[in-house]
Amino acid sequence: MDQSIPPATAPAFETQIAPASADAIEAAAELILAGQPVAMPTETVYGLAGDATNAEAIARVYAAKGRPSFNPLIAHVSGLSMARQFVDISPAALDLMARFWPGPLTLVLPLKPDAPIASLVTAGLDTLAIRCPDHPVAQALIAATGKPLAAPSANASGRISPTRAEHVLKSLGGRIPLILDAGPTSAGLESTIVAVENGQLRLLREGAIPAEQLGLERPIVADPARPSAPGQLASHYAPHQPVRLHAMAAKAHEYMIGFGDIQGDASLSPKGDLTEAASRLFDLLHQAEASGKAGIAVAPIPDHGLGRAINDRLRRAAAERA
Ligand code: TXA
Ligand code: MG
Repeated sequence: MDQSIPPATAPAFETQIAPASADAIEAAAELILAGQPVAMPTETVYGLAGDATNAEAIARVYAAKGRPSFNPLIAHVSGLSMARQFVDISPAALDLMARFWPGPLTLVLPLKPDAPIASLVTAGLDTLAIRCPDHPVAQALIAATGKPLAAPSANASGRISPTRAEHVLKSLGGRIPLILDAGPTSAGLESTIVAVENGQLRLLREGAIPAEQLGLERPIVADPARPSAPGQLASHYAPHQPVRLHAMAAKAHEYMIGFGDIQGDASLSPKGDLTEAASRLFDLLHQAEASGKAGIAVAPIPDHGLGRAINDRLRRAAAERA
């Protein structure tokens, strides 16, 4: 199923492929610190890296991929000490890190309450998927930016994951400024994803590290392609109050989320910018929920580009609850 959508607000780029020299990594770091996405090699597949602490940068990652919905992303870190800044690390998680990091093991762990991770990275969840890549270029880029890098596979939504810079170019050419080329990736298969909950491991995605190596005898894989079933996620997106969409004005009992000309109590983007709106979506839903108002109204959002992903999440937020 091809659900690709064109970027709404991202400028068209003349995408450059650069061998991953020290100079190119420096240039990539500057782009990332300026909020732009850059394709980087990892040992699994090429990732489209953005600054995980910058909501607009993450919105641009989604826009470049043309993701119709905000699946949560993996944050790539330099190692244990950087990971500790963002997630709670239980003894069971620490044991896995000691055995498999750096390497293709992603751990889903509780997000620290005040961690400076953009809510668009976790798609509003209270867990963060985190991994330490075993690739010198990915590590050099994390070091040069000093940031955790959120990176989904560097392919347009619904397409095959890229294991070569040319794959990235074919899929994302014109949508991103730079691809760091370090030749074909070694694993060629995405990382294995494991959630660690109360000392129990749950396999969320089969990947480059076989489940047996993790001591998981009977792995529970709901759906390898979409480990977090949309239905499961939907409840996380839903605020406690009923949500009314396509609202032109608030009723007395409602907290109003505005967009463009419709101001509201808070606006996703006063200037009607979908990238900005995407970057603020989960934050404003939380804010609206915390307002104590009995209902939430949301102004109409154009249904193109990132607006489609925004509307997808808003429909989930507004859906009838069981
Ligand atoms: O090897 C890899 O993991 C590559 C390289 C670039 O690191 N990245 C990758 O990212 O495959 P992506 O976005 O294509 O897949 C990430 C998966 C998604 O299926 C997402 O649902 C899941 O990780 N995920 C992320 N955060 C999660 C969370 N908090 N809870 C459950 N699943 C999560
Ligand atoms: Mg992917």
